[in-house]
Amino acid sequence: MSIATVSVIGLGYIGLPTAAILASSGCQVIGVDISEHAVATINDGRAHIVEPGLGALIASTVGQGALRATLIAEPADAFMIAVPTPFKGDHEPDLAYVKSACDTIAPVLKKGDTVILESTSPVGATEQVAKWLAAARPDLVIPTARSQDEFTDIAIAYCPERVLPGNVLIELVKNDRVIGGLTPACSEAAKRVYALFVKGEIILTDARTAEMCKLAENSFRDVNIAFANELSIVCDRLDIDVWELIALANRHPRVDILQPGPGVGGHCIAVDPWFIVHSSRDQARLIRKAREVNDAKPDWVIDKVCAAVDEVRAARGTDENVRIACLGLAFKRDIDDLRESPALAICERLADLPGCDVIAVEPNIDALPKQLAGRVVLENVDVAIGVADVILLLVDHHQFGDAYRLVDTRVPVIDTRGLWRERRDVRRENAAAHEPVDTMKMAVGDLDQSMARP
Ligand SMILES: NC(=O)c1ccc[n+]([C@@H]2O[C@H](COP(=O)([O-])OP(=O)(O)OC[C@H]3O[C@@H](n4cnc5c(N)ncnc54)[C@H](O)[C@@H]3O)[C@@H](O)[C@H]2O)c1
Repeated sequence: MSIATVSVIGLGYIGLPTAAILASSGCQVIGVDISEHAVATINDGRAHIVEPGLGALIASTVGQGALRATLIAEPADAFMIAVPTPFKGDHEPDLAYVKSACDTIAPVLKKGDTVILESTSPVGATEQVAKWLAAARPDLVIPTARSQDEFTDIAIAYCPERVLPGNVLIELVKNDRVIGGLTPACSEAAKRVYALFVKGEIILTDARTAEMCKLAENSFRDVNIAFANELSIVCDRLDIDVWELIALANRHPRVDILQPGPGVGGHCIAVDPWFIVHSSRDQARLIRKAREVNDAKPDWVIDKVCAAVDEVRAARGTDENVRIACLGLAFKRDIDDLRESPALAICERLADLPGCDVIAVEPNIDALPKQLAGRVVLENVDVAIGVADVILLLVDHHQFGDAYRLVDTRVPVIDTRGLWRERRDVRRENAAAHEPVDTMKMAVGDLDQSMARP
């Protein structure tokens, strides 16, 4: 069966680039979203999310009539579901958006169609999709994991997404894809859809293995980051520079330790391992422990800041407010995404500390998110460093690298990324040799004058 029209359900960070790439590959693409803003923006030839190259691709594909967005599903030959899959309660996967997407497409499904779930999902989700569709469309023969291939009217498969934000348009085409159909015929049908735009290898398996594959990939990352985060705490206790240690250990030909940080963020690595833990509580002990280690790292960072605040107060002998500069709010370097960001969570908790004023620096946003608005000040890095009594580096944004030259060496610095490690060593050597300290004249800009360091 040829695939002339594809419908993508959920036009966010994954669905919209996928829809645009499909549209540029010669398909007619109908994007469906519940957000009127997203639908209107796309139909206006623009992207409502930030991703390099996406705006131009939307403009051209919408302009050529190959892509359009709608709030109501329409018939198509294939449907790709890319809606959110968060967790709820005690880290239980929340498939409500997937269920709602199934309800949306069920009325327009016809014999010969292919349905692909792309949302990161717990094992068994694709079978659940089949059950929901079967309940909504008793007139169609819907596959199950035990179906005889020739007897099903539609194909259902799972295909996880592994693109890197910032490089999505390239990775969508180049990455290898794992497809798990409910039956081998379902896998083959889904493969025909991806063959329209994927240049990487397409590997077929069953639905459960494909679901677990995505969860295993992100859990692997989480466990390895937890190892680095735990090492950083142990090394701090033993007065060892963890970044030097990791660089030395990685000289071993079979060792590749990741870098520690203030925690783990984003809506993938910080979420997906819980899907495994929820499904296998007694078995997934290491995966759960890694989640706990990474989730606890912000507490350790906050303890460090509190100790530095006490130090400042003791040295000053007054009870005037201590100014803490938090450098970075995003969940990783050089992006604007604050979802599940440990930096944001740390900044929020520091804003509650009595006797402290918090100055946030995030070069990739124009306004503070609502949880910080009115509680902290958003400033540029030069001003924040100039007025801070304590500096907390949370994200290794490229703008922060050189900013260390502005730091007064008397100001306590908590560098959770090791970005300033080598520069700090140089400054220490200079100080030891009694060279003049590279202090700066501050321009406090719009910042409340009362926050300027006396
Ligand atoms: N963003 C990533 O880097 C990434 C990478 C790999 C996998 N994933 C997975 O892909 C899935 C989607 O993630 P995302 O980042 O694109 O999410 P997103 O929040 O950016 O986009 C989801 C879109 O779905 C829409 N939506 C919600 N319910 C809907 C419904 N019933 N019908 C139609 N539209 C609906 C929302 O309005 C939104 O526009 C998630 O499962 C995520 O874990 C994301």
